[in-house]
Amino acid sequence: MTTIRSLSLNENVHSLCELPVLSGTTGPDVINVEALYKQTGMFTYDPGFTSTASCSSTITYIDGEAGILLYRGYPIEQLAEKCTFLEVCYLLLNGELPTTSEMFKFESTITIHTMVHDQLTNFFKGFRRDAHPMAIMVGVVGALSAFYHDALDIKSKNDRDISAIRLIAKVPTIVAMCHKYSTGLPFMYPQNKLSYVENFMRMMLGTPCDDFAPNPVLVRALDRILILHADHEQNASTSTVRLAGSSGANPYACITAGIACLWGAAHGGANEAVLNMLKEIGDVSHIPKYIAKAKDKNDPFRLMGFGHRVYKNHDPRAKLMRTTCHEVLTELGLHDNNLFKLALELERIALEDNYFIEKKLYPNVDFYSGIVFHALGIPSNMFTAMFAMGRTVGWIAHWAEMIADPDQKIGRPRQLYTGATKRDVPKNHNTSS
Ligand code: SDX
Repeated sequence: MTTIRSLSLNENVHSLCELPVLSGTTGPDVINVEALYKQTGMFTYDPGFTSTASCSSTITYIDGEAGILLYRGYPIEQLAEKCTFLEVCYLLLNGELPTTSEMFKFESTITIHTMVHDQLTNFFKGFRRDAHPMAIMVGVVGALSAFYHDALDIKSKNDRDISAIRLIAKVPTIVAMCHKYSTGLPFMYPQNKLSYVENFMRMMLGTPCDDFAPNPVLVRALDRILILHADHEQNASTSTVRLAGSSGANPYACITAGIACLWGAAHGGANEAVLNMLKEIGDVSHIPKYIAKAKDKNDPFRLMGFGHRVYKNHDPRAKLMRTTCHEVLTELGLHDNNLFKLALELERIALEDNYFIEKKLYPNVDFYSGIVFHALGIPSNMFTAMFAMGRTVGWIAHWAEMIADPDQKIGRPRQLYTGATKRDVPKNHNTSS
């Protein structure tokens, strides 16, 4: 980043301070306010960080006005069409697409780390069978650090690299175990002869009693869906991972913090909420009623899968997800799927409504993903775990970038205090009374 000019902050004609303006390779310039408090005794104030850059990064770029998403400079549309998810993982972690030999080595390394320590299965027995899979994910992924003492030195690049491999390799196994545990079916062990997504689909949907023949159309669709979920700049869960990592916490704890944050319905929990919403709407004839509810300030209902903090144009992932959804439904002979038809009609009506047009509320990545997962036979309470499986590599890439940044320090925001000023406990106050 380069300092391109300085900005004077004035108050009542007096110059309060001069702040450097920094420029990146593309996107908005930033005002470096690091010296603001020292020079003015004031903080900035930006709840929700709508205008705040928390870091510099080389990983993902979003132009929300233009609906552009780049992973290491490559457009998401091209990556989704021409690459596999593991190639995108390599790109996000290393900054460049892999050569054939690099890809072979990376994929082979991931493959041999897909199994989890057998004692990890004991953690599941402590959960009720109907526990939400994200609650189990938080518990089990967080417990991984109890098994990998050999590589928890975050200052060691080698330890960071092996932790990244272990998480990318093992999270799908744990996601599949969450599903199996909820059904009472036995856990499925990984099979090294299968590809990353074939392996996941077999662990998730297969049983020990039958040979699992993965459908190549569905495998490619899920591989693409993981690419679409892989990273998204400084979203809430990624920022959570960065903040947790800034304290020096181990990578498993940081990724667990990201999983916990992703669970929220305003974030990664939206895909499950979209499917529940579509089921609640039930019929195209009910759409106007729900559009009216979404517009009613007194009604907490929001159109799940619509809107985005950054995209004020179409979310490029939603378009790709819609196409993938149609491919999967056609392959499965479900092209007249009522939920999909309802979603298409809901999207059409919403995008013609002035409320959504004026507030620039477009379908986001979560709007169609739930329908695809549902068609693939994945239960709705597993949808956010699927999102976490794709996003794990993005979280790790940002965590590693932050740890390797020589300027990084523990994240410690300040506040605008509006509480009681100093006061004394009443002299006659007696705790035993
Ligand atoms: C993800 O950040 C990321 O990158 C996230 C993500 C990623 O890949 O990591 O892209 C994944 O989280 C996608 C978003 C999934 N969430 C949902 O689909 C839930 C429904 N969407 C909303 O909750 C909302 O749109 C957010 C949370 C996504 C964005 O909220 P903002 O940016 O804080 O916007 P806002 O709440 O201030 O809304 C602006 C206005 C408000 O009206 P006014 O107060 O200005 O009158 O738009 C309205 C909101 O009421 N609005 C909606 C709406 N979303 C915003 N009204 C109805 N339905 C909606 N979905």
